[in-house]
Amino acid sequence: MDNLLGQYAPKIDRDQGTTDPRPYALGYTEREFQRLELQGALIHDLTEDFLRRAGIGPGIGCGVGDVSLLAGRLVGPSGRVLGVDRSAGAVDIAGRRATESGQCYWTRFATGELDTFSPDETFDAVIGRLVLMYLPDPAATLRRLVGFLRPGGIIAFQEMAMPVTRSFPEAPLFSKCRGWIIETIERAGFEVDMGGRLPMVFAGAGLPAPQMNCAGLAGSGPDSPIYDYIAETLRSLLPMAKAVGAATAAEMKVDTLAERLRGEAVEQQMCVMLPPLVGAWANTPG
Ligand SMILES: C[S@@+](CC[C@H](N)C(=O)[O-])C[C@H]1O[C@@H](n2cnc3c(N)ncnc32)[C@H](O)[C@@H]1O
Repeated sequence: MDNLLGQYAPKIDRDQGTTDPRPYALGYTEREFQRLELQGALIHDLTEDFLRRAGIGPGIGCGVGDVSLLAGRLVGPSGRVLGVDRSAGAVDIAGRRATESGQCYWTRFATGELDTFSPDETFDAVIGRLVLMYLPDPAATLRRLVGFLRPGGIIAFQEMAMPVTRSFPEAPLFSKCRGWIIETIERAGFEVDMGGRLPMVFAGAGLPAPQMNCAGLAGSGPDSPIYDYIAETLRSLLPMAKAVGAATAAEMKVDTLAERLRGEAVEQQMCVMLPPLVGAWANTPG
């Protein structure tokens, strides 16, 4: 597998001083940035509810800016949000979206590696979604980021518990998709159950036991957007899936995958349950 990964050289922004040898599982294509926007729209309300519960805003591993823009809306023009991501392409899109939504005066973005990024200011909160799962040592990174918080600051993260994904009834194509996604991410060296590990990661960062919640999306019928979301996730993962031997393009047939998933779900009157989003938040000592 090392050899396969070695041969596989996806385009990855490596100019920010990362020491992590693992290529990012989903890649940095335009299509992946569009998928992130689709994902952001689908789970927007779940993250907004989570951030409100946590008492929120900066966003880390900000992708194309969904969480930072949401935090920016919650804190309003009198607050300030800084979104950070290692991908310059994602940060460009996030900045453009901030300008389009009129938030660019208080919601800013920077390119950086979370293990080396060093802002010269103090923050009220450090928040992130679907990013700890990609870090080689999430507890150590969290501990470092807590160093940029004021006393009593909020730390809040929302991550997936992928193994809990299921459908009722169980169906062959959906089960295959779940297996391809989990195996690819796992074999690429990332954490598929970061949601479940959040209390351990908080403890490892020296934080108190977090308050937690769990929220999830489900879908059914012909009009649900979740078939496209699953197919686009696999499209982004396909180069890595091939590299780690989790699936082939011929098995996946990604161009027709959404329609086939839709057909299966409609025919079996399925309830498709996407991975739960587990939220955890705590305050640093005041
Ligand atoms: C699945 S995306 C989630 C983006 C965003 N948080 C959201 O929920 O829409 C994960 C993001 O984490 C970023 N990322 C992963 N490891 C990182 C690191 N070590 N430093 C900075 N960004 C990182 C990736 O570039 C990617 O944009």
